[in-house]
Amino acid sequence: MTINTNDGILFKTDILSEMGVNLHRGSKMKKESRRRKPRIDIFKVLICLILLVMIGFGTKVFMDQQKLSQPVANVGGEVSSTATASAKPNTTSAATTETPTYQPEEGNITINKTEAKIAPSKNVELKVNGTTQQVAWTSSDETVAKVSKDGVVNGVAKGKATITAKVGDKTVSCTVTVQKVKQLALTFDDGPGKYTPEVLDALEKYHAHATFFVVGQNINNTTKAYMQRAVELGCQYGNHSYTHPNFTKLSKTQIKEELDKCDAKVKEAIGVVPTIMRQPGGAVTNSIKQFIDKGQILWSKDTEDWKYRDTERLVKYVLEHAEDGDIILMHDIHPTTTAGVERIVKGLTEQGFELLTIDELSEAKNEPIRLHHLIGCF
Ligand code: NI
Repeated sequence: MTINTNDGILFKTDILSEMGVNLHRGSKMKKESRRRKPRIDIFKVLICLILLVMIGFGTKVFMDQQKLSQPVANVGGEVSSTATASAKPNTTSAATTETPTYQPEEGNITINKTEAKIAPSKNVELKVNGTTQQVAWTSSDETVAKVSKDGVVNGVAKGKATITAKVGDKTVSCTVTVQKVKQLALTFDDGPGKYTPEVLDALEKYHAHATFFVVGQNINNTTKAYMQRAVELGCQYGNHSYTHPNFTKLSKTQIKEELDKCDAKVKEAIGVVPTIMRQPGGAVTNSIKQFIDKGQILWSKDTEDWKYRDTERLVKYVLEHAEDGDIILMHDIHPTTTAGVERIVKGLTEQGFELLTIDELSEAKNEPIRLHHLIGCF
């Protein structure tokens, strides 16, 4: 029998069952095949492992290429004959497109999308079918999206615009939503300090947000004002302990005291207690992870700014390595770091990144911050 998994790979179930494999989800399959007594020969085990790798690989490639709109899994059951969705959007560079549903009441003009979502500097082609007449394309807001004489829409900035095609006395319109599809979080540890305002200036200039993991003992009347300004700019605060000790060398009581004291200082400064934290130095054990009742935020890109103290290196590193969903680690206590932040924010913005706080990134990526998990990226 043929089984069709949700990654679009066909398997002959009789071959798999002959090899002693129950078809469950990938990770379980590995465990089950490992648990089995070696009543099957090594050659079959190898074939089986190759198939397992193919499942994993197939899933990744497939999911990367397109969002699977209709999962057709019946894995674990005997047979599923449902077909996988394979429709491709009819544009090559649109970030996301919606199924065309527009039906003109009359005439021969069709915009085959009711709405197109595109990223700035990416194109979406709106086709007009069944006519050889000259079509005049217009955009309601060229600062958001421009349209060429051939109906190719180019996103300029975040927002919505109406694109209209006109032939003779007939017009049809469609809405284009331009969005920034790449998002990441800049995070600054160990402050607040005297160089923090330089970071805030850069964020303010480009309407960007960041998250500051602060050390409680650095919060004083001067730095409190920086924190209040950061909150006004839309930034978020996280707890980075009171004295920056290595948590793995502390008792649970001491860890709690470190976190509580920092919480109190942050609350005193900005009126709210942080819901997220980062362990000093990122030092954490499983038992500490279970003990802390805040979102535990690590990072996906370590700039090592504290080690190199080199502005040029820092800027280059971030602009060359930033990826969608990243949490980037920096320290606003080093002037060599804060001196590069404006170029980083500007460069990332130009690359199409939206710079968000941790909470905003979690929401944008629809990945809630779960307690007792270490979060490195979204
Ligand atoms: Ni630190």
